[in-house]
Amino acid sequence: MIKTKEGIVQDKKILVAYFSHPGENAVVGYVDPGNTQLLGREILRVTGGNEFFINPVNPYPVDYDSTYEKAANEQKYQIRPDYCDDIRVEEYDIIFLGYPIWCGDLPMVVYSFIEKHNWSGKVVIPFITHEGTGDAGTYDRLKFKMSGAILKGGGFNMTGKMARTIEGLQKLNDWLRSIDYNEAMSRANVAY
Ligand SMILES: Cc1cc2nc3c(=O)[nH]c(=O)nc-3n(C[C@H](O)[C@H](O)[C@H](O)COP(=O)(O)O)c2cc1C
Repeated sequence: MIKTKEGIVQDKKILVAYFSHPGENAVVGYVDPGNTQLLGREILRVTGGNEFFINPVNPYPVDYDSTYEKAANEQKYQIRPDYCDDIRVEEYDIIFLGYPIWCGDLPMVVYSFIEKHNWSGKVVIPFITHEGTGDAGTYDRLKFKMSGAILKGGGFNMTGKMARTIEGLQKLNDWLRSIDYNEAMSRANVAY
């Protein structure tokens, strides 16, 4: 049993794992923390889960153009960048997985994380930020990549610009309430 900051009793172990790029970003300019990280932090606040930041061993550049160039090259050659440390996903029941859309796909370092773990029987709930392409088909792609996982939530996504607003966080909370990922959660009254 886990009691969250809201006093909600969870009977499932929750992990919030995500990648996010602090630095120059599309539309919002230079930001730190990144857009996906803001959503991740709010999910952590509401659920009382544990955090795992997918932190690339070789950080991405700060400026947008260099980051884009590096990301596009990794995608072209299907590189799987290393990330620092790791987390025993096997110990969790529910994993929120957050990422920005990069070049119409998941950032390759998120594939590194996915491919290192066994997702069988895990409830996986993706949350995504982008600047126009929506989830870019990644929610459906995850169904193939995460063999045995139970995907929930429909691929919640919003623009990075929206993620940086109160309205965006309210939408996130509405979605969290709607997905009933934990029976206790459905009784929650999480006011923002
Ligand atoms: C390398 C790179 C590639 C991107 N490619 C896309 C894309 O294909 N479609 C899209 O809508 N937004 C794209 N974006 C915008 C990001 O998805 C958006 O800014 C997101 O909110 C960034 O989240 P973060 O701050 O957590 O990294 C890209 C941004 C970067 C840096």
